[in-house]
Amino acid sequence: MSTSTVPEKSPHPGITLSLRPGHPDFLDLPWGYALAQWLQHSSRIQDLPRGLSRHAVVFVRYDRRLYAVKELPIGVAEHEYEMLRQMEEARLPVVEPVGHAHIQREGSEASVVITRYLDYSLPYRTLFIDPAMRAYQDSLLDAMAGLLVQLHLAGIYWGDCSLSNTLFRRDAGTLQAYLVDAETAEKHEPLMPIMRFQDLKIMQENISGDLADLGSSRLLPDGFLIFDTPRSILERYQRLWEEITREEVIAPDERYRIQERIRMLNSLGFSVGELQIRPTEEGDKLRMRALVVDRNFHREHLQRLTGLEAEEQQARKIMNEIREYQASMAQRLNRSVPLNVAAFSWLDQVYRPVLNRLQDFIATNNLSPVETYCQILEHKWYLSEQARRDVGHMAAVEDYVHRFSARENKSSA
Ligand SMILES: Nc1ncnc2c1ncn2[C@@H]1O[C@H](COP(=O)(O)OP(=O)(O)O)[C@@H](O)[C@H]1O
Ligand SMILES: [Mg+2]
Repeated sequence: MSTSTVPEKSPHPGITLSLRPGHPDFLDLPWGYALAQWLQHSSRIQDLPRGLSRHAVVFVRYDRRLYAVKELPIGVAEHEYEMLRQMEEARLPVVEPVGHAHIQREGSEASVVITRYLDYSLPYRTLFIDPAMRAYQDSLLDAMAGLLVQLHLAGIYWGDCSLSNTLFRRDAGTLQAYLVDAETAEKHEPLMPIMRFQDLKIMQENISGDLADLGSSRLLPDGFLIFDTPRSILERYQRLWEEITREEVIAPDERYRIQERIRMLNSLGFSVGELQIRPTEEGDKLRMRALVVDRNFHREHLQRLTGLEAEEQQARKIMNEIREYQASMAQRLNRSVPLNVAAFSWLDQVYRPVLNRLQDFIATNNLSPVETYCQILEHKWYLSEQARRDVGHMAAVEDYVHRFSARENKSSA
């Protein structure tokens, strides 16, 4: 067996690749070998933390981009790719599908799905292993419930909701959950309650299993009650589902409640696609139901204004800062300032200078720039509370970098 990490010429298999443009062609990968053997045959393979998996998954690097390659029985990769593509189109939080392949090796056939590696993502084990991440465990419950609600609203039955099939990204002190494994997913129009219940049942069984696995590796805190986690996710799911889908009855002189309802859904991140309003049976009142399209309300607003790509809570936090900036700009200039003008000035005068100062810090620690910016805002708030005055962004940056580096040095000592 060769132990060389230099790419070797592999026996050429019959391979049919379907790829989206804008990515490498992947033809230099050692397709003639089973994925489990790729490490010996390609220098592109990266060993990164991951969840439990049934199939072989390898991560490959092309310059600064990472991809996940997963081998499946024939026909399955095409389905997974197609489901991911549909979910991406519905603007759901899923890993980005890049392509799929059919491989014919000597005596065997397989299918392969390629996805873009979700940058800055954490498999759930990290949230339990790394003490610094334990504070996020409560957010994990909301993130899982929120992901299922979003999928179900879009008519997606997952069929295999688990912690291993989800990736987490930090989102301004909370977590955003991404679906990573869509093998069993199905699109229904509409998704019947029985399918939602089935999905929730699977979620509870799988998550108990994921946690039992952590428990057997002695990674759960003493006294951790495994069944509380899936139960709490279920409760949060039910509360959120009810909040989003409930119908309201309003009197003719309560029309302001229509705007109120839209604002409430937006504050939860949901964008409203349509409002259905019809008279009640007695005809003296109105029934109102909001149909939400996705959960990207603040993200889309921030992107339209500044071009920045952020998670939902990050965007919400930054939009608040831009509004404050707009108010103080208006006060300084003694005239009203449109939001887009304030946003442009904020990018130039606040965001970019902070990120320029953090450039090396972010690169060395492989951090998400937007999340780091949100941490700085949080830190600025904390320092300003202590000092009882606004300490300003740069003082917060200096102090943050100093404390972070001190903590890292201590933990690596
Ligand atoms: N695009 C991706 N980005 C980051 N991690 C990924 C990606 N695809 C897969 N993984 C990691 O690999 C693990 C297994 O992938 P999954 O699709 O669940 O495979 P399986 O069908 O074998 O369960 C996931 O838990 C995740 O940690
Ligand atoms: Mg999986």
